[in-house]
Amino acid sequence: MRYLILSDMHGNWEALQAVLRRVRRKQFGETLVLGDLVGYGAAPNQVIEAMSRLPGRLRIVRGNHDKVAAGLEPGHGFNEVALRAAQWTTERLTRANLEYLKDLPVGPTLVIESQAGAGEAPYGRSVAICHGSPADEDCYVFAESEALAAFRAEPRAWVTFFGHTHLPSLFLLEEGRIAGALLRGSGVLQLDPDRRYLINPGSIGQPRDRDPRAAYMIYDSTRQTLRWYRCRYPLQRAQRRIVGQDLPASLAERLAHGI
Ligand SMILES: [Fe+2]
Repeated sequence: MRYLILSDMHGNWEALQAVLRRVRRKQFGETLVLGDLVGYGAAPNQVIEAMSRLPGRLRIVRGNHDKVAAGLEPGHGFNEVALRAAQWTTERLTRANLEYLKDLPVGPTLVIESQAGAGEAPYGRSVAICHGSPADEDCYVFAESEALAAFRAEPRAWVTFFGHTHLPSLFLLEEGRIAGALLRGSGVLQLDPDRRYLINPGSIGQPRDRDPRAAYMIYDSTRQTLRWYRCRYPLQRAQRRIVGQDLPASLAERLAHGI
């Protein structure tokens, strides 16, 4: 089965729409959404409403911006711009979309449960999703030490997909040794059943690896392959939408630089 993996849309409707158009001819059994539907971008309602039109079954966890915009947390860790964007988002969400955000599940969630058979790889093919880290949805996984804590916090999973850093990246664990890499552009990887993986698809709506194109992934559970992609979108339209609203102009500017 094929899984479409999306994260950190951040109210960027133009970016999400471009990715969904790009993949529309592909068949997906499920779409995995790793949180931060809203915050920063100027189209939060459109992004939330697009969730019900995603291909296949939807498996989703909330992000830190979702819970602040939903009023579940005050956003103590947010900088001034993030907090202003969260407040702007809360004020503009429809009642139904506010309720949708409030009801989003907290990760980690096991989306594929597979028991390892005799003589097979120790983790079977179980797959989990979370926002920041399986240890804590607000935790960032940038460094190998943080990845190690994340592997320990989700011992059930062979592969865990995470978001939050907005960097397409991968960590692998083999016999206690850990290695990490950023994933540039587009590519494919054959996953190894004897290794464990933590994988970040990057951000749809606010990439931070100096590549402004929207980032997403496709996981094929039959072939055990992971493909990562970048997708151009009408960035200036997303910027105009931000500038036309009462949102900090820096949120439009950074989209052009992928930071
Ligand atoms: Fe985010």
